[in-house]
Amino acid sequence: MKKVNIAIDGFSACGKSTTAKAMARELGYLYVDSGAMYRAVTLYFLDHNITLTNPREVQKALDNIKITFHVNPKTGETETFLNVLRVEEEIRTMRVTEHVSQVSALSPVRKAMVSQQQKFGKKKGVVMDGRDIGTVVFPDAALKIFMIADMNIRVERRQKELFEKNQLVDFEEVKANLARRDAIDSTREDSPLKQADDALIIDTTYLTLDEQIEEGLNLATSRILEQN
Ligand code: DC
Repeated sequence: MKKVNIAIDGFSACGKSTTAKAMARELGYLYVDSGAMYRAVTLYFLDHNITLTNPREVQKALDNIKITFHVNPKTGETETFLNVLRVEEEIRTMRVTEHVSQVSALSPVRKAMVSQQQKFGKKKGVVMDGRDIGTVVFPDAALKIFMIADMNIRVERRQKELFEKNQLVDFEEVKANLARRDAIDSTREDSPLKQADDALIIDTTYLTLDEQIEEGLNLATSRILEQN
């Protein structure tokens, strides 16, 4: 069966990564979390005090960054590495989350990440989630999904996720962060978050996790059959 690339875009905390991960596992495809790559760059920039307004400093930092994904043999989960360091938990802390939209709005950062993401998709068989996957990274993806959900539901889900990682964050703080990131991600000049013309919407507001995965897999299966 010929493999295809699947692009999943949408706002933060709509269920993109959980759905993408499960779809990839079920289809035997590679899952790539593009947000993790922008988060890893942000972590590096914070740890090295990179001045975002200094293009030379930004480029030098980007030249020193290598982001890779490795499957943890114990959990079967894909984990993010920044150079040789495993940063899977650190990139999801509020410290990084607070700055990631500013960092990912920078064109040199996007250029470097998009080029790496396109390499992952060369052989097809990738499920990638993010903000510009269907519009910029894989404009010819066989299936593009755009996920949406009600804001309060998104806040509750993100808060629960953080709580499970022992991070207690106030509802209003999570909501403010999501709203701020929505605004920056969808209004930035370079590759703003928007639904691709040929993307199909999944609204996860009233869906359980299993239902949203099933909906994604149904779309994927029929698209894969069409392509074969
Ligand atoms: O999916 P996430 O919340 O982990 O993504 C973190 C940030 O990275 C998000 O606020 C915007 C940015 N991002 C992006 O600009 N382009 C992508 N393809 C993925 C993420």
